[in-house]
Amino acid sequence: MPKQRIAIVGAGNMARARGRALLDTGRVEICGVAARRVQRAESCAAELGCDVFCDDFRRLGEAGPDAILIEVPHRVQDEVSIWALDAGYDLLVGGCLASSVENGRQIAELATRNSRIVEAGFQRRYDPAWEEIQRLVAGGELGAPVMAVTTALWNPDPAVWYYDQEESGGMPLTHMSYCYLNAIRWILGRPTTVSAIANRMRNTAPGRVVEETCGALIGFANGAFASATASYIGPEGMPDPQPRFVCAEGGILPNADSPPGKDSITVFHGGRSEVRAFANEPSPFVRQAAAFLDAIEGRHEARNPPEDALLDVEIAAAVSVSAKEHRTVSLAEMR
Ligand SMILES: NC(=O)c1ccc[n+]([C@@H]2O[C@H](COP(=O)([O-])OP(=O)(O)OC[C@H]3O[C@@H](n4cnc5c(N)ncnc54)[C@H](OP(=O)(O)O)[C@@H]3O)[C@@H](O)[C@H]2O)c1
Repeated sequence: MPKQRIAIVGAGNMARARGRALLDTGRVEICGVAARRVQRAESCAAELGCDVFCDDFRRLGEAGPDAILIEVPHRVQDEVSIWALDAGYDLLVGGCLASSVENGRQIAELATRNSRIVEAGFQRRYDPAWEEIQRLVAGGELGAPVMAVTTALWNPDPAVWYYDQEESGGMPLTHMSYCYLNAIRWILGRPTTVSAIANRMRNTAPGRVVEETCGALIGFANGAFASATASYIGPEGMPDPQPRFVCAEGGILPNADSPPGKDSITVFHGGRSEVRAFANEPSPFVRQAAAFLDAIEGRHEARNPPEDALLDVEIAAAVSVSAKEHRTVSLAEMR
């Protein structure tokens, strides 16, 4: 099979990381890179073995791509996704599906209408340790799921787009969604309600994210809930606690101190604990890249298709509404 030609929009951290992951599948050539600044596009392209670069993503069509990887701030991502779907390309998008529910719905509809594959970039669903958690919890081996608890604290540079409400779509959509919410709902099932509280204590300049620190309880149809706390205030040197899953007859803890080359989880059941280890190569990024290539070659969905990924955008919107209006929000309101 000839290699898939992938063009990349963005030349930052994730464009380089996912570009390398695509190359590591051995099934891809990078055929062009576009960024805001041409020098950044050039250096990223060179790193990925490509000599086509530009500062206008619309010109990437000239490179004859089969699909596009989009790794840019979320507002720009919407514009690029709509252009790419209109032009008939399949898409791997770096993180969330879109910067708003409205844009996400438009992108999902466009993908369906044009029969295009879109995969949202939540790689944890391709992580063997998390696949085992999914198998254990969803399969009921540890009894009914009760709750998942996660925390993610981070200190971004206040000048970067992640801190810009408009450009990012807000903290619940960016950093909070990387609090494993996409993987947690893959494990716990259908989310139904959101109750959240938020504050802003450090960066209160106009236009900066509204929810700088945010805690959310997400309720699921099966009665379980997830507690997620995320913040752009991360005390230096203070590690995040590991996420954890509690079930009626046991629990699971992904381990922070796994042996080299391995990831591991500890499973608690019947008064005993057992460590289960998994090779961490190929990485979840490479596994997701391979799944995306399988999807575009076989014309079938991968694990994060747009209709499903829209839920992550709806959860983020519900977090903002709940925090602002001090009430529990039903996800049905976001539809
Ligand atoms: N899955 C994960 O684990 C994970 C982790 C972190 C982030 N993410 C996601 O990855 C994506 C990219 O984030 P990042 O951290 O890589 O961002 P980043 O390092 O800030 O890079 C953003 C890139 O977008 C480019 N850009 C901005 N506006 C553009 C435009 N109009 N046209 C073309 N390029 C434009 C910038 O160009 P210049 O270089 O010229 O400025 C830059 O190269 C986001 O969706 C983010 O949420 C995912």
